Amino acid sequence: MHNRIAVVGSLNIDLVVELDRMPSAGETVFGTSLQRHPGGKGLNQAVAAARLESEVHMIGAVGDDGSGDWLLGVVRRENIDARGIAQASGTSGTALIEVDSTGENRIIVIPGANNAVDPGAVAAHLTSLGAVDVVLTQGEVPIDAMVAAAETGRSIGARIVLNPAPVRDYPAELLRNVDVLVPNEHEAHELTGMPVGNMVDAVEAAQALQEKGPSCVIITRGDKGAVWTSPEGSGQSAAFKVSPVDTVAAGDAFCGGLASGLARGTTMAEAMRWGAAAGALAATIKGAVPSLPSLEKVTELLER
Ligand code: RIB
Repeated sequence: MHNRIAVVGSLNIDLVVELDRMPSAGETVFGTSLQRHPGGKGLNQAVAAARLESEVHMIGAVGDDGSGDWLLGVVRRENIDARGIAQASGTSGTALIEVDSTGENRIIVIPGANNAVDPGAVAAHLTSLGAVDVVLTQGEVPIDAMVAAAETGRSIGARIVLNPAPVRDYPAELLRNVDVLVPNEHEAHELTGMPVGNMVDAVEAAQALQEKGPSCVIITRGDKGAVWTSPEGSGQSAAFKVSPVDTVAAGDAFCGGLASGLARGTTMAEAMRWGAAAGALAATIKGAVPSLPSLEKVTELLER
C-alpha cells in the first residue's frame, strides 16, 4: 500500500447562515451570522484524508473567478496535489447552507465549474498517477466523470469508494465498478425505497444496494453509528459520543477517514473506526473544511 488517494469531486464556496430555526415556505426569519468557508464534498473528503496524513491527489474544476484562486490556495495549503484541478471559465461551485440552533442543516449546491469536470481528463490524470490505493468520488461532479473515475481506478488497481451524495440516477455501469458504497440513511432510503429507521431495516437496505455491485456497503447513521454489509457478513459499529454543534461535513470526514484507513491497508473494520472518529470530531466544530480533524486528534479519540 502507498497510502495514496485520488479524489474526483467538487470544490465549493460554502455560504453558511446560522439561524435559530429554519423558515417555513413563504416565511422570513432573521439569521444570526453569515460565514464563507471552503467546502464541497470532494474538497472536504480530500482535506479529511490529507489531515490524516494520506497522500491526496484532487481531480476537479474551479472557476476562473477569485473564488477559484482561493479554493486552489486552500488545496495547496492542505498539501493536496492540485495538478488535476482545471480552471474553467465561469463561476466556482457554491453551496448555500443553513444551520439551525440544534445543529441541523440544509444545503443547496449550485455546481458552477464542477459541471466542467471532464471524463477524459479524469481518466488521463488518474492513469498518470500510476499506483493509487483508493479512488474516492461523490455525486457533485458529472456522472460521466464519476464513471470514468471508477473504470480507470479499477484498471489501475485502486479500490473505488463512492459517496452517493446527493442522490442521483447513478447508472449500473458506475455501481458495478464500486467496491465500497457509503450513503447516509437518507440517501440509502432514496436509493432503495426501503425503510432504514432501525438497524435490521438498514442492514436489509445495505444488502439491496450490495446487489447492484459494491462488495461492501456502509450506511452512516449519525450518532447511531453505521451499519455495514460485506462478503464476510453484516453488522453495526457504534458512534463516538461527542456534543455536536454543526454536522456539516461530518459525513465527508467519515468518507475521508475511511479512505485514509483503507489506503494504509487497515481492515475494513478499522477503516470504519477511523471514519467514525473523524466524523464525530468534525461535528464538534463549525464549518466544513475548518472542522476536519488532524491525525493527532483522531488517534487520541481512537485510543480513548
Ligand atoms: O457535505 C457538506 C458539503 O456539501 C458542503 O461543504 C457543501 O459545499 C456541499 O457540497
